[in-house]
Amino acid sequence: MKTTDVGGTVMDEPKTREATAKAAVDSRSTASKGAVKESMIYIDGKFYTQANAKVSVFDHGLLYGDGIFEGIRFYNGRVFRLEEHLDRLWDSARSICLEIPMSKHEMTEALLETIRQNDLRDGYIRQIVTRGVGNLGLNPAHCERPSVIIIVATVALYPESAYKNGLTVITCATRRTNSAALNPAVKSLNYLNNVMARIEANLAGADEALMLNDTGNVAECTADNVFVIKRGQIFTPPISAGALRGITRSVVFEIAAELGLKVTETDITRHDVFIADECFLTGTAAEVIPVIKVDGRPIGTGKPGPISARMIARFRELTRESGTEIYS
Ligand SMILES: Cc1ncc(COP(=O)(O)O)c(C=O)c1O
Repeated sequence: MKTTDVGGTVMDEPKTREATAKAAVDSRSTASKGAVKESMIYIDGKFYTQANAKVSVFDHGLLYGDGIFEGIRFYNGRVFRLEEHLDRLWDSARSICLEIPMSKHEMTEALLETIRQNDLRDGYIRQIVTRGVGNLGLNPAHCERPSVIIIVATVALYPESAYKNGLTVITCATRRTNSAALNPAVKSLNYLNNVMARIEANLAGADEALMLNDTGNVAECTADNVFVIKRGQIFTPPISAGALRGITRSVVFEIAAELGLKVTETDITRHDVFIADECFLTGTAAEVIPVIKVDGRPIGTGKPGPISARMIARFRELTRESGTEIYS
Protein backbone atom coordinates (compact mmCIF):
# COMPACT_ATOMS: atom_id res chain seq x y z
CA MET A 1 0.00 0.00 0.00
CA LYS A 2 1.37 3.39 -0.97
CA THR A 3 1.95 5.92 1.78
CA THR A 4 3.66 9.27 1.58
CA ASP A 5 4.74 11.92 3.99
CA VAL A 6 6.10 15.40 3.55
CA GLY A 7 9.62 14.35 4.41
CA GLY A 8 9.46 11.86 1.58
CA THR A 9 10.89 9.10 3.70
CA VAL A 10 8.14 6.52 3.17
CA MET A 11 7.88 4.64 -0.08
CA ASP A 12 5.84 1.78 -1.46
CA GLU A 13 6.40 -1.30 0.62
CA PRO A 14 8.33 -3.30 -1.95
CA LYS A 15 9.00 -7.00 -2.24
CA THR A 16 12.31 -7.28 -0.50
CA ARG A 17 14.82 -9.89 0.43
CA GLU A 18 17.28 -9.58 3.22
CA ALA A 19 20.81 -9.79 1.91
CA THR A 20 21.39 -13.38 2.95
CA ALA A 21 22.82 -16.48 1.33
CA LYS A 22 19.35 -18.07 1.49
CA ALA A 23 18.00 -15.34 -0.79
CA ALA A 24 20.66 -16.20 -3.33
CA VAL A 25 19.51 -19.82 -3.41
CA ASP A 26 15.87 -18.73 -3.91
CA SER A 27 16.86 -16.52 -6.80
CA ARG A 28 18.79 -19.26 -8.58
CA SER A 29 16.04 -21.82 -8.19
CA THR A 30 13.54 -19.44 -9.84
CA ALA A 31 15.90 -19.09 -12.77
CA SER A 32 16.24 -22.84 -13.14
CA LYS A 33 12.44 -23.21 -13.38
CA GLY A 34 12.61 -21.27 -16.63
CA ALA A 35 10.88 -18.12 -15.33
CA VAL A 36 12.07 -14.80 -16.75
CA LYS A 37 14.81 -13.73 -14.39
CA GLU A 38 14.30 -10.35 -12.81
CA SER A 39 17.30 -8.25 -11.99
CA MET A 40 17.83 -7.97 -8.22
CA ILE A 41 19.05 -4.65 -6.89
CA TYR A 42 20.62 -3.97 -3.52
CA ILE A 43 19.42 -0.92 -1.62
CA ASP A 44 20.56 -0.37 1.97
CA GLY A 45 20.85 -3.99 2.99
CA LYS A 46 17.87 -5.42 1.10
CA PHE A 47 17.32 -6.83 -2.36
CA TYR A 48 14.51 -5.54 -4.55
CA THR A 49 13.25 -6.61 -7.94
CA GLN A 50 13.96 -4.05 -10.63
CA ALA A 51 10.32 -2.89 -10.63
CA ASN A 52 10.44 -2.30 -6.88
CA ALA A 53 13.91 -0.81 -6.59
CA LYS A 54 13.01 2.79 -5.72
CA VAL A 55 14.58 5.72 -3.97
CA SER A 56 12.96 8.74 -2.40
CA VAL A 57 12.45 11.88 -4.49
CA PHE A 58 13.98 13.69 -1.50
CA ASP A 59 17.30 11.88 -1.87
CA HIS A 60 19.98 14.49 -2.49
CA GLY A 61 21.56 12.15 -5.02
CA LEU A 62 18.52 12.88 -7.20
CA LEU A 63 17.95 16.50 -6.17
CA TYR A 64 21.56 17.70 -6.40
CA GLY A 65 23.71 14.93 -7.85
CA ASP A 66 25.06 14.73 -4.31
CA GLY A 67 26.69 11.35 -4.12
CA ILE A 68 29.37 9.18 -5.65
CA PHE A 69 29.60 6.05 -7.76
CA GLU A 70 31.81 3.37 -9.21
CA GLY A 71 31.51 1.23 -12.31
CA ILE A 72 33.14 -2.16 -11.87
CA ARG A 73 33.38 -5.17 -14.16
CA PHE A 74 33.44 -8.85 -13.39
CA TYR A 75 34.74 -11.45 -15.77
CA ASN A 76 34.67 -15.21 -15.63
CA GLY A 77 33.32 -15.29 -12.06
CA ARG A 78 35.82 -12.75 -10.71
CA VAL A 79 35.50 -9.05 -9.90
CA PHE A 80 38.29 -7.16 -11.62
CA ARG A 81 40.34 -4.76 -9.47
CA LEU A 82 37.71 -4.61 -6.74
CA GLU A 83 40.04 -3.21 -4.09
CA GLU A 84 41.13 -0.31 -6.31
CA HIS A 85 37.51 0.56 -7.08
CA LEU A 86 36.59 0.50 -3.39
CA ASP A 87 39.61 2.65 -2.54
CA ARG A 88 38.53 5.19 -5.15
CA LEU A 89 34.94 5.13 -3.88
CA TRP A 90 36.16 5.81 -0.36
CA ASP A 91 38.43 8.60 -1.63
CA SER A 92 35.51 10.21 -3.49
CA ALA A 93 33.41 9.95 -0.32
CA ARG A 94 36.09 11.52 1.81
CA SER A 95 36.54 14.39 -0.62
CA ILE A 96 32.85 15.34 -0.42
CA CYS A 97 32.53 14.66 3.35
CA LEU A 98 30.21 11.70 2.87
CA GLU A 99 30.45 8.86 5.33
CA ILE A 100 29.79 5.52 3.67
CA PRO A 101 27.59 3.69 6.21
CA MET A 102 29.48 0.41 6.01
CA SER A 103 33.03 -0.93 6.03
CA LYS A 104 34.93 -1.93 2.88
CA HIS A 105 34.55 -5.54 3.96
CA GLU A 106 30.76 -5.18 4.29
CA MET A 107 30.63 -3.40 0.93
CA THR A 108 32.57 -6.25 -0.66
CA GLU A 109 30.13 -8.79 0.79
CA ALA A 110 27.11 -6.78 -0.40
CA LEU A 111 28.59 -6.44 -3.87
CA LEU A 112 29.47 -10.11 -4.25
CA GLU A 113 26.06 -11.14 -2.93
CA THR A 114 24.33 -8.84 -5.43
CA ILE A 115 26.16 -10.55 -8.27
CA ARG A 116 25.21 -13.96 -6.86
CA GLN A 117 21.58 -12.85 -6.63
CA ASN A 118 21.72 -12.12 -10.32
CA ASP A 119 23.42 -15.37 -11.14
CA LEU A 120 25.99 -13.85 -13.47
CA ARG A 121 29.65 -14.63 -14.15
CA ASP A 122 30.36 -11.72 -16.51
CA GLY A 123 28.90 -8.26 -16.16
CA TYR A 124 29.01 -4.74 -14.84
CA ILE A 125 28.34 -3.41 -11.36
CA ARG A 126 27.10 0.10 -10.67
CA GLN A 127 27.77 1.02 -7.10
CA ILE A 128 26.18 4.23 -5.86
CA VAL A 129 26.29 6.03 -2.53
CA THR A 130 23.90 8.97 -2.30
CA ARG A 131 23.84 11.62 0.39
CA GLY A 132 20.47 10.19 1.36
CA VAL A 133 17.06 11.62 2.14
CA GLY A 134 16.94 15.26 3.21
CA ASN A 135 14.64 18.18 2.52
CA LEU A 136 14.46 20.40 -0.56
CA GLY A 137 17.26 22.63 0.70
CA LEU A 138 20.72 21.67 -0.51
CA ASN A 139 22.32 21.56 2.93
CA PRO A 140 23.60 17.98 3.31
CA ALA A 141 23.47 18.37 7.09
CA HIS A 142 19.74 17.64 6.81
CA CYS A 143 20.34 14.26 5.19
CA GLU A 144 20.08 11.58 7.81
CA ARG A 145 21.99 8.69 6.32
CA PRO A 146 23.66 7.95 2.98
CA SER A 147 22.05 5.27 0.84
CA VAL A 148 24.00 2.45 -0.77
CA ILE A 149 22.72 1.04 -4.05
CA ILE A 150 24.25 -1.78 -6.08
CA ILE A 151 23.00 -2.66 -9.56
CA VAL A 152 24.35 -5.55 -11.58
CA ALA A 153 23.85 -5.85 -15.33
CA THR A 154 25.36 -7.34 -18.43
CA VAL A 155 27.26 -4.84 -20.51
CA ALA A 156 28.73 -4.52 -23.98
CA LEU A 157 29.50 -0.87 -24.56
CA TYR A 158 31.00 -1.41 -28.01
CA PRO A 159 30.67 -4.29 -30.46
CA GLU A 160 33.72 -6.50 -31.02
CA SER A 161 34.22 -4.82 -34.42
CA ALA A 162 35.03 -1.53 -32.63
CA TYR A 163 38.00 -3.19 -30.90
CA LYS A 164 39.28 -4.40 -34.28
CA ASN A 165 38.46 -1.32 -36.37
CA GLY A 166 38.75 1.49 -33.84
CA LEU A 167 36.65 4.49 -32.81
CA THR A 168 36.18 7.94 -34.26
CA VAL A 169 36.51 10.82 -31.82
CA ILE A 170 35.82 14.55 -31.97
CA THR A 171 37.12 17.30 -29.72
CA CYS A 172 34.13 18.87 -28.01
CA ALA A 173 33.61 22.47 -27.00
CA THR A 174 32.53 21.49 -23.48
CA ARG A 175 35.59 21.81 -21.25
CA ARG A 176 36.37 19.38 -18.44
CA THR A 177 35.33 20.87 -15.13
CA ASN A 178 37.98 23.01 -13.53
CA SER A 179 39.25 21.21 -10.43
CA ALA A 180 38.63 24.34 -8.37
CA ALA A 181 34.94 24.11 -9.28
CA LEU A 182 34.32 20.37 -9.13
CA ASN A 183 37.35 18.15 -9.12
CA PRO A 184 37.12 15.50 -11.87
CA ALA A 185 39.02 13.16 -9.54
CA VAL A 186 35.78 12.78 -7.56
CA LYS A 187 33.58 10.24 -9.27
CA SER A 188 30.43 12.07 -8.27
CA LEU A 189 26.82 11.65 -9.34
CA ASN A 190 27.20 15.07 -10.95
CA TYR A 191 28.14 13.95 -14.48
CA LEU A 192 26.39 16.67 -16.46
CA ASN A 193 29.77 17.94 -17.70
CA ASN A 194 30.41 14.52 -19.24
CA VAL A 195 26.84 14.20 -20.47
CA MET A 196 27.13 17.53 -22.33
CA ALA A 197 30.30 16.29 -24.01
CA ARG A 198 28.59 13.00 -24.87
CA ILE A 199 25.75 14.94 -26.53
CA GLU A 200 28.32 16.74 -28.68
CA ALA A 201 29.78 13.40 -29.78
CA ASN A 202 26.29 12.14 -30.64
CA LEU A 203 25.44 15.29 -32.62
CA ALA A 204 28.72 15.00 -34.55
CA GLY A 205 28.13 11.32 -35.28
CA ALA A 206 31.33 10.36 -33.43
CA ASP A 207 31.89 7.46 -31.05
CA GLU A 208 33.48 9.57 -28.32
CA ALA A 209 34.42 13.16 -27.43
CA LEU A 210 37.83 14.37 -26.38
CA MET A 211 37.51 16.87 -23.54
CA LEU A 212 40.07 19.62 -23.06
CA ASN A 213 40.73 21.41 -19.79
CA ASP A 214 40.73 25.16 -19.15
CA THR A 215 44.25 25.52 -20.53
CA GLY A 216 43.36 23.75 -23.76
CA ASN A 217 45.25 20.54 -22.99
CA VAL A 218 43.65 17.14 -23.31
CA ALA A 219 41.98 15.91 -20.12
CA GLU A 220 40.15 12.72 -21.09
CA CYS A 221 37.07 11.48 -22.95
CA THR A 222 33.55 11.46 -21.56
CA ALA A 223 34.07 8.27 -19.55
CA ASP A 224 37.53 7.10 -20.59
CA ASN A 225 41.17 8.01 -20.17
CA VAL A 226 43.22 8.80 -23.27
CA PHE A 227 46.61 7.46 -24.36
CA VAL A 228 48.71 8.35 -27.40
CA ILE A 229 51.74 6.51 -28.73
CA LYS A 230 54.62 8.19 -30.56
CA ARG A 231 57.77 6.35 -31.69
CA GLY A 232 57.13 3.46 -29.32
CA GLN A 233 56.53 5.63 -26.26
CA ILE A 234 53.18 5.97 -24.53
CA PHE A 235 51.86 9.28 -23.22
CA THR A 236 48.78 10.11 -21.17
CA PRO A 237 47.56 13.31 -19.46
CA PRO A 238 48.34 13.59 -15.73
CA ILE A 239 45.54 13.59 -13.17
CA SER A 240 46.18 17.32 -12.70
CA ALA A 241 45.04 17.86 -16.32
CA GLY A 242 41.52 16.83 -15.28
CA ALA A 243 41.67 13.08 -15.87
CA LEU A 244 40.04 10.62 -13.54
CA ARG A 245 42.57 8.30 -11.91
CA GLY A 246 41.26 5.44 -14.01
CA ILE A 247 41.65 1.88 -12.79
CA THR A 248 42.01 0.64 -16.39
CA ARG A 249 44.57 3.43 -16.90
CA SER A 250 46.62 1.97 -14.05
CA VAL A 251 46.34 -1.52 -15.56
CA VAL A 252 47.75 -0.09 -18.81
CA PHE A 253 50.72 1.27 -16.83
CA GLU A 254 51.31 -2.24 -15.48
CA ILE A 255 51.02 -3.90 -18.89
CA ALA A 256 53.35 -1.32 -20.45
CA ALA A 257 55.96 -2.10 -17.76
CA GLU A 258 55.56 -5.82 -18.51
CA LEU A 259 56.07 -5.13 -22.23
CA GLY A 260 59.07 -2.90 -21.55
CA LEU A 261 57.29 0.22 -22.82
CA LYS A 262 57.66 3.62 -21.23
CA VAL A 263 54.56 5.52 -20.14
CA THR A 264 54.90 9.24 -19.48
CA GLU A 265 52.23 11.32 -17.79
CA THR A 266 52.47 14.69 -19.47
CA ASP A 267 50.34 17.49 -20.84
CA ILE A 268 49.03 16.57 -24.27
CA THR A 269 47.63 18.95 -26.88
CA ARG A 270 45.32 18.20 -29.80
CA HIS A 271 48.43 18.53 -31.99
CA ASP A 272 50.03 15.63 -30.07
CA VAL A 273 46.94 13.55 -30.73
CA PHE A 274 46.83 14.42 -34.45
CA ILE A 275 50.47 13.42 -34.98
CA ALA A 276 50.34 10.28 -32.82
CA ASP A 277 51.17 6.89 -34.34
CA GLU A 278 48.42 5.30 -32.25
CA CYS A 279 45.76 6.35 -29.79
CA PHE A 280 43.58 4.31 -27.47
CA LEU A 281 41.05 4.89 -24.71
CA THR A 282 40.65 3.05 -21.42
CA GLY A 283 37.72 2.65 -19.09
CA THR A 284 35.95 -0.04 -17.11
CA ALA A 285 33.03 -0.15 -19.54
CA ALA A 286 35.01 0.50 -22.76
CA GLU A 287 38.03 -1.55 -21.61
CA VAL A 288 41.04 -0.80 -23.89
CA ILE A 289 39.86 0.38 -27.29
CA PRO A 290 41.72 1.92 -30.24
CA VAL A 291 40.98 5.29 -31.83
CA ILE A 292 41.53 5.66 -35.56
CA LYS A 293 40.28 9.16 -36.28
CA VAL A 294 40.20 12.42 -34.32
CA ASP A 295 38.49 15.52 -35.71
CA GLY A 296 38.53 13.96 -39.16
CA ARG A 297 42.30 13.26 -39.11
CA PRO A 298 43.39 9.63 -39.34
CA ILE A 299 45.63 8.60 -36.46
CA GLY A 300 48.81 6.90 -37.71
CA THR A 301 47.90 4.64 -40.59
CA GLY A 302 44.20 5.14 -39.87
CA LYS A 303 44.02 1.58 -38.51
CA PRO A 304 44.52 0.32 -34.95
CA GLY A 305 48.25 0.06 -34.30
CA PRO A 306 50.36 -2.87 -33.02
CA ILE A 307 50.96 -1.55 -29.51
CA SER A 308 47.25 -0.93 -28.98
CA ALA A 309 46.55 -4.48 -30.18
CA ARG A 310 49.09 -5.96 -27.73
CA MET A 311 47.64 -3.85 -24.95
CA ILE A 312 44.11 -5.07 -25.69
CA ALA A 313 45.21 -8.70 -25.85
CA ARG A 314 47.08 -8.58 -22.54
CA PHE A 315 44.30 -6.63 -20.85
CA ARG A 316 41.83 -9.32 -21.87
CA GLU A 317 44.09 -12.03 -20.50
CA LEU A 318 44.32 -10.23 -17.16
CA THR A 319 40.56 -9.79 -16.89
CA ARG A 320 40.01 -13.52 -17.37
CA GLU A 321 42.81 -14.57 -15.01
CA SER A 322 42.65 -12.27 -12.01
CA GLY A 323 40.15 -10.78 -9.57
CA THR A 324 38.06 -11.46 -6.48
CA GLU A 325 36.25 -14.80 -6.67
CA ILE A 326 32.46 -14.42 -6.60
CA TYR A 327 31.25 -17.99 -6.13
CA SER A 328 34.04 -19.53 -4.03
C1 LIG B 1 35.26 10.60 -16.51
C2 LIG B 1 35.89 9.26 -16.53
N1 LIG B 1 37.16 9.15 -16.95
C3 LIG B 1 37.78 7.95 -17.01
C4 LIG B 1 37.15 6.79 -16.64
C5 LIG B 1 37.87 5.48 -16.68
O1 LIG B 1 38.12 5.02 -15.39
P1 LIG B 1 38.14 3.47 -15.04
O2 LIG B 1 39.19 2.85 -15.89
O3 LIG B 1 38.47 3.41 -13.60
O4 LIG B 1 36.78 2.96 -15.35
C6 LIG B 1 35.81 6.87 -16.21
C7 LIG B 1 35.08 5.66 -15.80
O5 LIG B 1 35.07 5.29 -14.69
C8 LIG B 1 35.18 8.12 -16.14
O6 LIG B 1 33.92 8.23 -15.71
